[in-house]
This record gives sequence, C-alpha cells and structure tokens, in this order.
Amino acid sequence: MKYIRQQQALRNGLFDIKHSNLLSEATRISGFPDMTSAKTQNALFVTELGKPVTAGTREIPTPGEDEVLIKVTATQLLPHDTYGRDKGLLFADHLPYVLGSNIAGTVQSSNHAYGLGTHIYGPGNPLSPVPNYSGLQEYALLTLSNSAPVPEGISDDGAATLPINAVTTFAALFHPNHLALPPPWSPEAASFDYSKETLVVIGAGSNCGRLALQFAKSVGIETVVGIASLSNARELEELGASHVIDRYLSQVELVRQVRGILGAGGVLKVLDCVSWTHELAVALVPEDEKSLVATLHRATAVADILEREGKTKAVVEFVMGAVNNWGKEDSAAFWEVVGEGCG
Ligand SMILES: NC(=O)c1ccc[n+]([C@@H]2O[C@H](COP(=O)([O-])OP(=O)(O)OC[C@H]3O[C@@H](n4cnc5c(N)ncnc54)[C@H](OP(=O)(O)O)[C@@H]3O)[C@@H](O)[C@H]2O)c1
Repeated sequence: MKYIRQQQALRNGLFDIKHSNLLSEATRISGFPDMTSAKTQNALFVTELGKPVTAGTREIPTPGEDEVLIKVTATQLLPHDTYGRDKGLLFADHLPYVLGSNIAGTVQSSNHAYGLGTHIYGPGNPLSPVPNYSGLQEYALLTLSNSAPVPEGISDDGAATLPINAVTTFAALFHPNHLALPPPWSPEAASFDYSKETLVVIGAGSNCGRLALQFAKSVGIETVVGIASLSNARELEELGASHVIDRYLSQVELVRQVRGILGAGGVLKVLDCVSWTHELAVALVPEDEKSLVATLHRATAVADILEREGKTKAVVEFVMGAVNNWGKEDSAAFWEVVGEGCG
C-alpha cells in the first residue's frame, strides 16, 4: 500500500492531509520577470510582527557546498509561519524575514548532481539568520542532502505540501533521538517485528498526524490509536489508525479508553502532534516502564509534570523538524521512502 498517493487521490483523502485546503495555501510564485542574470529578486517580507507581509527586494543567494539554487515554483505556509509572522517564532531576531519553508522549484545552479531545470522540493530553513532558505521569494536555496526530485505524477504544488511535516513526522517515529523505531532501510528493519509495536498519535487528524499514520502503516504497525475528531475517523482508519478516540473527551476518559485498548502498561510510544502542554501524553504512559514521547511543540515544564505524576521513566523529547538530523545516506533513503509513497 502506498502511503502517500498522488494528486488524483488527494481529493478523496488518501493523500496525507487536507489537500484542497493545503493546496490553496500553497502560494504559487508567478508573473515575476525572469531574473536569472539579475542580482536581486522580489520577495515578501515580515518587517513587523503581527502585520501583513510587505513586498520588497533582496539579493539572490549564492549556493554553498551541498546547496542548490532554485527558482521557486511553489511554497506552502505552515502553522509555524503564522506563529512567526504573528509572534516572531524562530526569526524574531532576524527581521525583515521571508516566510515559507516548504518549497519546490527548478534547479538554477550546476555544481551538483541535479540537472539544470530539474523540479526539486525540500524543506527550507526558518532557523537560518538570513532568509535564503525561504519560499516567498523568487529564488531560494535548498540543501542537496535534504531535497529530492519532485516525484513523477506529482505537481510542484503537491510536492510543496510535504517537506517539513514529512521530515518531522518521520524523524519523530524513526530517529533514534525520538520514538526510535528502526528506519525501514536499516539492517534491523529486516528482522524487526513492527506489527508488535503500538503507537498513540495525539492529534491524528492534523497533517502531521495523518503522515504519522501512513508512515506507521507503511512499516506494518498494526495498533495505532489516534486521538482526533470522530468526524474524520473513517479516513484516519484508512490511513493507518486501528482505533480513533474522540479528542473532545475529558483527559480522564481519553486515558481510560486508550488504556482499555493498549493495557495500562502498554502505552510506550506516543507522538503528540498538537498539544502545547503535555499532560495528556504524560497521563497516558505507565509509571514503571520506560516510555518515549515525541512532541512537535516544545515541551515546556515537562520535567515538573513528569515528577508530579511519578512518570520519571518517561522520556519526552521535542522534535525539531526544520533541520534534518539524518546523515547523508539516511537522508537519501528518507527521500526515497517519501518519493515511493507518492507513487
Ligand atoms: N517541531 C517541528 O519541527 C514541527 C514540524 C511540523 C509541524 N509542527 C507543529 O505541529 C503542529 C501541527 O502541524 P500540522 O500542520 O499538522 O497542523 P494542522 O494540520 O493545522 O493541525 C490542525 C488539526 O489538529 C487537530 N487538533 C488540534 N487540536 C487538537 C487537540 N487538542 N487534540 C487532538 N487534535 C487536535 C485538529 O484535527 P481534527 O479536529 O480534525 O482531528 C485540527 O484540525 C503545528 O503547531 C505545527 O507548528 C512542528
């Protein structure tokens, strides 16, 4: 089963996320003059927090080693772009800044393996002090090791919906710093029985949650409990959830139902895609066994919660997905997995 389907399937929900919504959010860059020989380019800047972006110009960045210059064809604004524009998340100290860290475009530089004009996609880098790796401008940089050709049958718009959420969610499940499942290309994967693993996804209905369900299903994890709106239950089950629990239940009831499925001591891997505090994840895991919790929002004050709840064997780690924590070979294997999933 391909866990990420191509565009035709997007509309019936088999792709990772709410595509119509996301594709409408993917900002197409068009109508600008061809500036390949120019030194400056048009860009949209956050100049003041909480205010609309403004048009301006900036230098076209020069690619360094392991970098590719692309002419941007599509970029997608993600929740962190909103938090950045409104509150300064990630780049408050670097204004004026350019939004858009899911990027697709055509290759303009030639010192690497991609041919000129190849359509590639990848995550930008909103942590960079200069916005060279941002999409709301005509030209941007991607890194060679953290980008890939746009898969056949997928448009640049479609590809631009994937990078940050895919990199982050995949790392949450498979990186040794997080839930530490063997990555599907690793030697351990061949003999690892994924079907015996269980996973709880808090916010399974989010874009990241949907990707997590698909990645989990693709390796054969059979018991995946999603906490989400029940209105999406059928779709989430198709994507990989074995059970969907109503996210609007009280925390006590959520814990009771999840434990009813996995057993009181059985909640050992939790991915929390949506919470800003992590009481629910901590309440789910057992006291007397090591458990792993990966969070997509920084886990503030989590040590206090763990101490207070007596869950000192739980390891709660924030996943920073904007940067790729895999080595070059693993990174290439990751992009292959994502590309195959789009087929
Ligand atoms: N750390 C990183 O590097 C990184 C990377 C990517 C994303 N993120 C963050 O992860 C979060 C999710 O991103 P996304 O793009 O996947 O967001 P999204 O799709 O916009 O998530 C919104 C959905 O999450 C679900 N949700 C919201 N609150 C919930 C709750 N309390 N319990 C259960 N489900 C809830 C709702 O789905 P239903 O009601 O339909 O179930 C809602 O429609 C964002 O805040 C984003 O900034 C972080």
